[in-house]
Amino acid sequence: MKTAIIYTSKHGTTEKVAQMIAERLTGNQVSIIDLKKEKCPDVNSFEGIILGTSIYASAPSKTMQCFCKENIEALKQKRLALFVCGMEPDSAKQQQELAKAYPQELYEYAVSKCFAGGEFQFEKMNFFERAIIKRIAKTDKSVSQIKKDAIDKFVIGLKNK
Ligand SMILES: Cc1cc2nc3c(=O)[nH]c(=O)nc-3n(C[C@H](O)[C@H](O)[C@H](O)COP(=O)(O)O)c2cc1C
Repeated sequence: MKTAIIYTSKHGTTEKVAQMIAERLTGNQVSIIDLKKEKCPDVNSFEGIILGTSIYASAPSKTMQCFCKENIEALKQKRLALFVCGMEPDSAKQQQELAKAYPQELYEYAVSKCFAGGEFQFEKMNFFERAIIKRIAKTDKSVSQIKKDAIDKFVIGLKNK
């Protein structure tokens, strides 16, 4: 199946997760598309679409929000899956962030969804981001909490449904 993983990423974690998903999609012809570089990818040239965005201050990227709004009808014709990257530790809040990140009709329509975890990469943060994370997460050390198990399940869900 021709599949596109369309993502937005600030410090590279969502891009990394997009690549991890692509590696697991054996037997598919996968294109990985950075929405910030390719602003209007042609959704119609794919049968499967996977969307991914990171979460900052409880919100998905504006670029991803606009893309969903502009392509909502076309996306509803596809085999659709959705993921987010974030460092929210509470699992109920992780699910809320995932549900809020995409338009409700896409969220309900998607065959597979996942909160894929994330990373704090202090060396890539600006002064303000560093100060916020130091205060909220009470750490100044870079850490990776990408949820490989959740990504495995996400891909299995996508293949099986
Ligand atoms: C300033 C700041 C605010 C953040 N706010 C949230 C948040 O509200 N919820 C969350 O789950 N993760 C939050 N994160 C964590 C990011 O989503 C995480 O670092 C993610 O891996 C970033 O992915 P990216 O490099 O693809 O942008 C925040 C990170 C920073 C630096």
